[in-house]
Amino acid sequence: MMDSNSPDLPRGLELTSLSPTFRDDPFSVLNGLRDSVAVLEDGQLRDHVVFRADLVQKVLTDQTLLVDPRALAQTSTRIMRGEDMSVETSMLHADGARHKRLRTLMLKAFNNRRLEAFRERAREICNELLDAAGAEFDFVQQIARPMPTKVIIELLGVDRSLGEEFKVWSDQAIAFKLNPLADEETRTIGAEGLAAIDRTVADEVNRRLSSGDRPDDLISGMMDAQTSTGETFSVAEISQHAQLLLIAGNQTTTDLMGTMVKSLMEQGTSYADLVRDPALIPSAVEEAIRFEPPIFGTERITQEEVVIEGVSIPKGHVITALLTAANRDPKMVERPDEFDIHRSQIKHVSFGGGAHRCIGAPLAKLECEVLLQEMVRRFPAMKRADRAYAYDPNPGFRGLEFYWLCKN
Ligand code: HEM
Repeated sequence: MMDSNSPDLPRGLELTSLSPTFRDDPFSVLNGLRDSVAVLEDGQLRDHVVFRADLVQKVLTDQTLLVDPRALAQTSTRIMRGEDMSVETSMLHADGARHKRLRTLMLKAFNNRRLEAFRERAREICNELLDAAGAEFDFVQQIARPMPTKVIIELLGVDRSLGEEFKVWSDQAIAFKLNPLADEETRTIGAEGLAAIDRTVADEVNRRLSSGDRPDDLISGMMDAQTSTGETFSVAEISQHAQLLLIAGNQTTTDLMGTMVKSLMEQGTSYADLVRDPALIPSAVEEAIRFEPPIFGTERITQEEVVIEGVSIPKGHVITALLTAANRDPKMVERPDEFDIHRSQIKHVSFGGGAHRCIGAPLAKLECEVLLQEMVRRFPAMKRADRAYAYDPNPGFRGLEFYWLCKN
């Protein structure tokens, strides 16, 4: 084991997709760190980072750790502090009883019945996009980018005629929210995008309240949701959570679709195996989520000093759980660096864990399943086009910028 603050270890931007070495092969860098240090003292973008599967699980499920950025100490090196973030009402940054109330309400609306009822519409959206793509097409830009936004906009139930505008606003908001290094212009445009989403959803909720109109969609679901003690969402909370769904479910699902399709095309006979046996599709999706998680890490903030493997982490500092590194820990699965859709057991932490585990996992899987079912049914001979591809330099994410396919 190396000293956790050894200057020889990569840290800061070297552990993001902005670094070409890391972007090319984050897995070697992370496997190396996991095997040489229990807790990395980053001290640049993040405070402390853990990589091993057991430590990542421990951090994710430790109920004393927080997510509200207002708990950050001034000495924290984390780049985004409380004052920069909209912490008012979103469950992503809420702790304790407030988080529990918001999450309970959201899960009442965002339930399996609603998702399953949407499956065939998701298939139609997918087929419309596949129809519009030429014989040779950029899978990322033409399918993986538009599909998740179209799906979430329709699920929410905002006026379909606003679909295009919503897409622009959510792209602007994402460019700002998901990039801690965004410049001033991106931040201003992003804040305008967020405000536009907020206004549109609030207007829609108020319209429904005054007209009594309740179409069977997610906005109505959020309006009608109630906890066992009769608590409900406020109009402002519904707008905040519509924003959260748009942002949380967008880049992540796009990235997953891209790397999933790339792995299927390039790793052994995976795609041909799915053509032969489409029943393998759910495990192929799960393996893709394990193999190349869209989000490298998730964060928790200490409420008091915490000691992990002898390293003291002060109160108000961030511990980043490096999900990608934990997935490639041999203690998680056998042969972790192999992409194998035939695995009998697939374990991973790509959706985080504990109280904040991703609520969108079933939707992301549904979209990927529908996509693969349609691809193997319609284009059994699909292959990678003879063109270069590139990974996106977005700091916190692992995803492709473009990846070309041939339908036949
Ligand atoms: C939280 C990953 C898709 C909604 C999270 C977290 C991760 C994650 C790592 C943080 C968990 C933690 O800190 O323990 C992913 C991945 C996705 C995906 C890899 C796609 C492949 C979605 C979708 C939605 C969504 C489609 C909804 C439309 C959320 C929400 C939270 C969350 C609301 C916050 C939950 C909470 O704080 O209680 N996601 N996500 N995600 N995700 Fe996802």
